[in-house]
Amino acid sequence: MTARKGIILAGGSGTRLYPITMGVSKQLLPVYDKPMIYYPLSVLMLAGIREIAIITTPDDQDQFRRLLKDGAQWGLEFTFIVQPAPEGLAQAYLLAEDFLDGAPSAMVLGDNLFFGHGLPDLLQAAGRQDTGGTVFGYRVADPERYGVVDFAEDGTVRRIIEKPTNPPSSYAVTGLYFLDGTASERARMVQKSDRGELEIVSLLESYLKDGTLSVQQMGRGYAWLDTGTHSSLLDAGNFVRTLSERQGQQIGSPDEVAYVQGWIDDAKLLDRAKLFGKNAYGSYLRWLVD
Ligand code: G1P
Repeated sequence: MTARKGIILAGGSGTRLYPITMGVSKQLLPVYDKPMIYYPLSVLMLAGIREIAIITTPDDQDQFRRLLKDGAQWGLEFTFIVQPAPEGLAQAYLLAEDFLDGAPSAMVLGDNLFFGHGLPDLLQAAGRQDTGGTVFGYRVADPERYGVVDFAEDGTVRRIIEKPTNPPSSYAVTGLYFLDGTASERARMVQKSDRGELEIVSLLESYLKDGTLSVQQMGRGYAWLDTGTHSSLLDAGNFVRTLSERQGQQIGSPDEVAYVQGWIDDAKLLDRAKLFGKNAYGSYLRWLVD
């Protein structure tokens, strides 16, 4: 099987966070002590993925390159792709078609934060499916803001509906999509929705029709956090702060994940630590080596 490749979709204008995002991409904003994109990046790394495309607006690409470099500092390989206009999540598979080159993929939205015991196992299990797709259903209090799973009586998935006025269940589909090598081909068949976007739910629909979409429950022991509004952004930061200070362990550190995965050695991690001087992040990386 060809190695699974990753996509981080970090485009979009972030209008809901204006005026903050008038000058900087949403996915570069801090979530407590790290840029937001570090968190979804770490998720792909936990899934064992090393070749990753980062999709941004034309204006923001330089800043992402400045932050993330070419990925070698983490044993990764980044490809930067521009999304000229935000025309839907499924568009990512068209923009990344050459990059993917028929490989299976995991796409994560640049503003989605995941945390939970057992997350690496969950991700690796999804990564082992080389045909069809896997998405995750997560119970939320406000499903109308998301893609929502419509379950049939027998528990099978009937449909996934984007931002329904009357949600058929409380299960939102998180912004993490494991799809097989046919995703780009299928994305080409997707028609624009009424709001003018190539909807991810339409792409998922194509897998659902073929009976090859698996909707995994991400149970209550996981945190799936949203950063879509000013208060949820602050909540996400507070969550990261509370947990990481209590445990003395980082959340969403690509440096740590790369080291634990064995993609970088002591010397490389210490090089990174130097960049952060005496701050807590730098001390943490040095502590990992000790
Ligand atoms: C997008 C998807 C939606 C999904 C959500 C997860 O919505 O369209 O299906 O549930 O991400 O974050 P958006 O955040 O673009 O409104």
